[in-house]
Amino acid sequence: MTSATSASVQALLWRDAALQLLDQRLLPAQERYLEARDAGTVARAIADMVVRGAPAIGIAAAYGMVLAARAGADLAAAEAQLAASRPTAVNLHWALARLGRLWRAGADAERLEAEAVRMHAEDLAANRAMGRLGASLIKPGSSVLTHCNTGALATGGHGTALGVIRSAWQEGRLAAVYHTETRPWLQGARLTAWELAREEIPAQMIADGAGAHLMKVRRIDWVIVGADRIAANGDTANKIGTYQLAVAARAHGVRFMVVAPASTFDLQLAGGEAIPIEERDAGELTAFGASAVAPAGTRVYNPVFDVTPAALIDAIVCERGVIEKPDAARVAEVIGRTS
Ligand code: MRU
Repeated sequence: MTSATSASVQALLWRDAALQLLDQRLLPAQERYLEARDAGTVARAIADMVVRGAPAIGIAAAYGMVLAARAGADLAAAEAQLAASRPTAVNLHWALARLGRLWRAGADAERLEAEAVRMHAEDLAANRAMGRLGASLIKPGSSVLTHCNTGALATGGHGTALGVIRSAWQEGRLAAVYHTETRPWLQGARLTAWELAREEIPAQMIADGAGAHLMKVRRIDWVIVGADRIAANGDTANKIGTYQLAVAARAHGVRFMVVAPASTFDLQLAGGEAIPIEERDAGELTAFGASAVAPAGTRVYNPVFDVTPAALIDAIVCERGVIEKPDAARVAEVIGRTS
């Protein structure tokens, strides 16, 4: 069985009973795939950012369970190891729960593999649907700003926020595209710039600190971002820096769009304050590659996600529909209810 996506960039490939992960730490300098043949390798690849982006992490975890099942390994241990790889993206837990329900009901490795391949294809289809829905909110001649990387690299293909930008560009709606560099991992500079260049979508990068200034001196119609976890009231966790863009957007009359599949909603959490925020190593901020950029002993606080309150969000676009001015009732209408 082979994963059946047709996007131009493939972050994950399921081939000959092995998972090939495009090593995103090496982009754009090198396009090299890392092969995973066991769940432990997949868990390490997620933790080390070989594969990143909430939907892609979920799909990788699903294939990790398939690898464990095929090897006759301890599935509960594999599930626990994969679940612990990164804390914020709920897609990881959603994917593990979907596979976990099946194997606890007695499904064999072949059945789990079919389910993982289906999830992969469903994510691509969801992204295409969100692309169309999100693009329809964007008036022709608009300028947009995005943050982090939410493209084919972060998903099963096409992308969430970048998928909307891709669709809007194809429909001739965009006058200008801006993206941040996204310190410290540079997902914007390394990955979004690379995807946009491959698609021949003209864009300009800004320093992370330039967002508010950009909104003041140039016309920006929409800030468009992805999500790692959306609480029942619409509060949204995404890459660190998203919240300050939302505050700046509201201050400058710029609309703010979140694009995420239903698998990114965590209806168990009433609000964003309960979303676990990953903190990563100090070295991500004190060094740039192999070079130190801060004096030895510099103390660091390195949260890598933040939570944007629903009140600052104009629309959440998901494959099931558009949630305008999100709150608990509107989220429940489109996504469902917890009980
Ligand atoms: O740390 P990362 O690169 O995994 O963070 C990714 C993001 O924050 C994305 O915006 C989010 O996962 C949505 S990806 C479609």
